[in-house]
Amino acid sequence: MTAVPPRRPIIAGNWKMNGTLPEARKLTQEILQGLRGQTDVDVILCPPFTALSTVGEILKGSPLFLGAQDMHWESSGAFTGEISPVMLKEIGCRFCIIGHSERRAHFGDTDPVIHRKLLAALEQGLNPILCVGETLQQRENGKTWEIIEGQLKAALEGIESDRIARLVTLAYEPVWAIGTGQNATGTQAQEVHGSIRAWLTGRIGKSQAQAIRIQYGGSVKSENAGELLGRPDVDGALVGGASLNAKGFISIVESALQKKEN
Ligand code: PGA
Repeated sequence: MTAVPPRRPIIAGNWKMNGTLPEARKLTQEILQGLRGQTDVDVILCPPFTALSTVGEILKGSPLFLGAQDMHWESSGAFTGEISPVMLKEIGCRFCIIGHSERRAHFGDTDPVIHRKLLAALEQGLNPILCVGETLQQRENGKTWEIIEGQLKAALEGIESDRIARLVTLAYEPVWAIGTGQNATGTQAQEVHGSIRAWLTGRIGKSQAQAIRIQYGGSVKSENAGELLGRPDVDGALVGGASLNAKGFISIVESALQKKEN
């Protein structure tokens, strides 16, 4: 049996609706300088649409990647206010967050919509970061796995194993942990990540499932990153609030570097 190479840690900063152009420029420059060209962790910056081009220009020639926070599933057309994956590719995006719980909760991103977006991202050569996660009520009712499995099944329906393994990153983001300061513990995160990997093994096979990176998201900060990233199936982080501070974000990347070295 061939050994599966270790998964490369992946840290993404989801800036959400934050960052004027001067702020975006400053934050990007500070992060870039602080990381000093490290290439052992994949680092992705996901600014708002209006700052993609500015941030992309600064990142050019660096090992960091540009990502978007959402996209439409069509390439072009009468969809006022929307941005297509073709446009994101053109502006230099490699990644796109899909199915974030804020999109699910406030902007009508249902499971079928997320599936269409995921397919379109793959068609256009963008790497989707697919977010899944349960609400507090669902957790308290013992429905965590049922919800996550349903979200995974719907989003990945009909997509070939090989494409999933090569292109998709997953993010487990418990809704109750997002922006609340109340992160999942390492044990809670590992429990769900382990279940996701077991489910993937059934869906796409063991070696492919081993290759997929699963990020944890929800109140990740420098203080808890080591504990979360130290878990075997936590391959990275999707960082919201703490990604708006260069020092904090860099220290999360450093925790991911340690994971790689261990
Ligand atoms: P948070 O957000 O780190 O501010 O909790 C995470 C996310 O929404 O991706």
